Amino acid sequence: MDRIRIKGGNQLNGEIVISGAKNAALPLMIASLLTSEKLVLDNVPALADVKQLQKILANHGVDIKINANSDDMGGQQISFHASQISDTCAPYELVSAMRASFWVIGPLLARMHEAKVSLPGGCAIGTRPVDFFLDGLKALGASIKIEDGYVIAKAPKGGLRGNRVCFPKVSVGATHTVMMAAVLANGTTIIENAAREPEVSNVANCLVAMGAKISGIDTHTLIIEGVEKLHGANFEVLPDRIEAGTFAMAVAMTGGDVLLKKGRVQDLQAAADVLIDAGVDIKQERNGFRVKANGAGLRPINVETDVFPGFPTDLQAQYMALMTRAAGEAHIKETIFENRFMHVAELARFGADIKIDGQNAIVNGVPQLRGAQVMATDLRASVSLVIAGLVADGETFVSRIYHLDRGFERLEEKLGRCGADIARISD
Ligand code: EPZ
Repeated sequence: MDRIRIKGGNQLNGEIVISGAKNAALPLMIASLLTSEKLVLDNVPALADVKQLQKILANHGVDIKINANSDDMGGQQISFHASQISDTCAPYELVSAMRASFWVIGPLLARMHEAKVSLPGGCAIGTRPVDFFLDGLKALGASIKIEDGYVIAKAPKGGLRGNRVCFPKVSVGATHTVMMAAVLANGTTIIENAAREPEVSNVANCLVAMGAKISGIDTHTLIIEGVEKLHGANFEVLPDRIEAGTFAMAVAMTGGDVLLKKGRVQDLQAAADVLIDAGVDIKQERNGFRVKANGAGLRPINVETDVFPGFPTDLQAQYMALMTRAAGEAHIKETIFENRFMHVAELARFGADIKIDGQNAIVNGVPQLRGAQVMATDLRASVSLVIAGLVADGETFVSRIYHLDRGFERLEEKLGRCGADIARISD
């Protein structure tokens, strides 16, 4: 199994191109199931999760071609052609590795009027139930049974019917799924308390480009007028705000001056505001945003994760790594997932001082972290260990980095080009 070795102490300077967003690319790929015409996606990141979803879609009969595989970090162009759906079952072996693969249930049900999908897996960051998905699909008239770990869904005769769906809590996945189901339903669906994360808007805009009728994009209420058919389209995956936020925190940690090309501050304003309060300089430029820091004297700023436009849970671990070096005590509250503090035990190996009390972490900054042998536990937690390693005194080894490969494209190369001493080693 590969590991990452980091020698801490170097500042980061230069440019990093931000890849396409994993969490938009995955549902955009799934949207290809909604039409018999070709969906061509640009700026698709080359990630393990994208490859896994390609396998799942191929199993449903989608013809997938990688048209351009750029090595200048411009992203891949991939075409998805679901001229016929040959299988409406998404089996356990394929779905269990990644929660987002469960979302195929929406388009399959909408287009094929039936789906059998294994209950999902994914990062172990909480129980992550699927009740909102199932209640939403039931509201559109679907009958749902759970048998042997599979959800078996059937649409009523004539297909799904538009209805009002009100989620008890904002859910990104349930919004994607019900939205994709509703675009081909008969009549109008109103989704209340919908997620309005930029990735949801990206998918909604792609569906519109495919002929869907959706209003209220970027708000918590989506109004979807069902249409009979969708057609093909060419659409671009938006830049990954979590990757951009992660590199911004890495620069805040080490000090330096890095232009995050394609990065958009407006997609991560809450996190940018926190970094600015902590003493980091962030400026949007024409082709990205620039992060400058001197690598010392960070102010401790309290943070509470929230749905968009709040501080993203997907940056909580990275921010915690950053606060281990702040001059004082920072309180971090995780409100989205109940088990998203697994990085705390690993950060402690660097000498970090963090106490957990339920949903709250209290981080007391220390003057210096020490290099350590640590283990990646989930995607964002693993990159927080890399950030800590970048400033730790001595060598750090991060094992189980397959977690990192799920969501960060060419991480070592991007950091290495900016001066980090980082390498992937195979034992
Ligand atoms: C998406 O997960 C992202 N994944 C996650 O990113 C991200 O952390 C999360 O949204 C929150 O922003 C993708 O986009 C592929 P949710 P998702 O449904 O959709 C509860 C990463 O590292 N809930 O918005 O699974 C749930 O337990 C990943 O890239 C129910 O109770 O998250 C959680 O507490 C990890 N019942 C809350 O809602 C349901 O039926 C929000 O989860 C559904 C969700």
